[in-house]
Amino acid sequence: MKIFVTPDVDRVTAQYLLRRWPQLRVLGLATGRTPEGLYGWLVQYFYEGRLSFADKRTFNLDEYYALPPNHPGSYRATMVRLLMQYVDLPPDRFHVPPGLTEDVEAACRNYEAQIRAAGGVDLWILGIGQDGHIAFNEPGSPPDSRTRLIRLEESTRRANADFFGGDPQQVPTHAITVGIGTILEARELILLAKGSAKAEILEAAVCGPETAQVPASFLRRHPRCRLILDPEAAGRLLRRLENGAVNGHPLQKVHDGAEIG
Ligand code: F6R
Repeated sequence: MKIFVTPDVDRVTAQYLLRRWPQLRVLGLATGRTPEGLYGWLVQYFYEGRLSFADKRTFNLDEYYALPPNHPGSYRATMVRLLMQYVDLPPDRFHVPPGLTEDVEAACRNYEAQIRAAGGVDLWILGIGQDGHIAFNEPGSPPDSRTRLIRLEESTRRANADFFGGDPQQVPTHAITVGIGTILEARELILLAKGSAKAEILEAAVCGPETAQVPASFLRRHPRCRLILDPEAAGRLLRRLENGAVNGHPLQKVHDGAEIG
């Protein structure tokens, strides 16, 4: 795992993606507040003619259940609002787990099959919940978990209330999420985090035991995983910095205008 700390998570990540763009055929995407700025950069690069989605395919991590796809709080609608409405991704190559389906198990198997049929995900962008979830793999999720229906923690529903009129009760109780096993199969991972509210769980994920109680701790098993963090999210890790590494994971501070390797 490589850790990068920068006040400009969005730009640094966007520039890294731009450099890698020709090699990325299948992109994994996340929703939530954290990657919103990154998607803004990708839209700008698209308008500047610096990248195209015409030959890409995308898979999102998760979707609320049960929400119709056109519900404004749905992750499908959110991705359309932030990114897909602007870029040239063919609509049939934009995949989000279904928010409404009669046969949940079949839909989950089908999502995994679609990822496999696409040749797997080249690079998956991730965020992290304050309880350590990645995608919606809440604490207790094993490292070999696959796409499935999951019950959301109350803390997760509270954290996402803003997208549902500020009322946690309006946040769906369940979601369909890819599993940790699904995520770990991507060829490359980038986890983004911003703000001091994420500092404690990032310390647990990087320095604590590898445990299902902190699902993000399993990211340490991945051979090509980068964490791109702002200084507030990295606060506790920075305190543990010894000889340029935290718990054996190299940490680099990225200064103005610099790029990450
Ligand atoms: C979203 C997702 C979640 C979020 C996490 C952090 O697709 O999978 O794991 O990344 O809940 O959310 P924000 O970015 O809003 O802090």
